[in-house]
Amino acid sequence: DDEESKKSRTKYKDLIATLPKEERLTPDLDLYEYQGFWFPYCYLESIMSVQEQFKAQSTDIVLCSYPKTGTTWLKALTFAISTRNGFGDNHPLLTNMPHECVPFLEVDFVHHDDTTYNRDPQLPLLATHLPYTSLPKSIIESKGCKIIYIWRDPKDTLVSLWHFLIKLIGKGVCFEKEFDQFCQGKSSYGSFWDHVLGFWKASLENSEKVLFLKYEDMKKDNNLFYVRRLAEFMNQPFSEEEEDKGVPQKIMELCSFGNLSGLEVNKTGKHRADTGLGINNNAYFRKGEIGDWKNHLTREMAEAMDRISEEKFGTCVLW
Ligand code: A3P
Repeated sequence: DDEESKKSRTKYKDLIATLPKEERLTPDLDLYEYQGFWFPYCYLESIMSVQEQFKAQSTDIVLCSYPKTGTTWLKALTFAISTRNGFGDNHPLLTNMPHECVPFLEVDFVHHDDTTYNRDPQLPLLATHLPYTSLPKSIIESKGCKIIYIWRDPKDTLVSLWHFLIKLIGKGVCFEKEFDQFCQGKSSYGSFWDHVLGFWKASLENSEKVLFLKYEDMKKDNNLFYVRRLAEFMNQPFSEEEEDKGVPQKIMELCSFGNLSGLEVNKTGKHRADTGLGINNNAYFRKGEIGDWKNHLTREMAEAMDRISEEKFGTCVLW
C-alpha cells in the first residue's frame, strides 16, 4: 500500500507540474490553478488524494467555507450542538481549539485506506475549504450527507486574511498586493466570488442538502436564531425541555468570540503542533467584528471590491 501511495504521489506531483502557477509569499503558499480555482501548494496533493479516495457517509455534515469567513465559529457552533448531551461542565471546547474538534478534509483524511479512519460515528462533522465543484463526488452524491456553508463580506475576508498571513509568516505582507491578487481571484481557494457562487447555486438547487449562511447575519441578528437553525438542519433540533433549560443560549455563549478568544487554549495554544502545519491558535481569533475593512481599505479599494461583487453576484438575494 505504501507502493500505491507512492505511485499516487508521483502522479499528483506530475500533474501539479503541468498546472499554471502563481508565486506567493512562501513556496507552500504558491498557488496552482486546478479545476478553475487557485489552490495552495501545501494542500494540493492532499486535495487530489481526497477527491479520489474520500467516501462520505450518509450521516456526514460537511462544513464548507472560504478561508477567514467564520470557519472557526461554525466549527465551534456545530460541534457544541452535536455534542450537547455528552459533556457537563467539561466541554471540550473549553480546552481544545475548535479546529481540533472537527477534522479537516484536506489534512486528516489523506492517504488512509480505511476512509472511516479518524471518524467518530457520534460526530458527523468534517470541514473543508474546497469549492463546491471540487468536493469529493461522494459528498455531493451521498443522499443523507449535508453541507453547511458560511461566507462573509469579501472586504472583511481580505482584511482578516492579511492579518492571518502576517501572523503566519511575519511582517512584510504587502496589503496592496494581497488586495490585487484577491480581486483577481488569485488567493488560496479563490476566486472568493466563484467559491461563494458555487455554494449559493447548490443551496438554491437543494436547500435540504446545502445550508447557506452569512457571517454578518449570524453576528448581527440575534444569533440564537442561527443556533436553532443549525440544530434543525443537522437533524438535532432542541427539545422543549432543552429550550426551557436555555441550552441554545448556552451554546451561543460558549461559542461567542468573547468567550472562545479569552480561553487559555486559544490565547497560548498551538494546533497541529506535531506537523509542519502547526499554527498558533490565537491567529484564528482577532477581532471578530463586522466592518473592520473601513480601517484598512481606501474608498477606491472598497468601491472596486463592491463592483466585483455586483458584477459577480448581480442582483441575486445574497448581495
Ligand atoms: P477577523 O480577522 O475579522 O477578526 P476563519 O475561522 O474562517 O479562519 O475566520 C477567522 C475570522 O473569524 C477572524 O476574523 C476571527 O476573529 C473570526 N472569529 C473567530 N472566532 C469567532 C467567533 N467565535 N465568533 C465570531 N467571529 C469569530
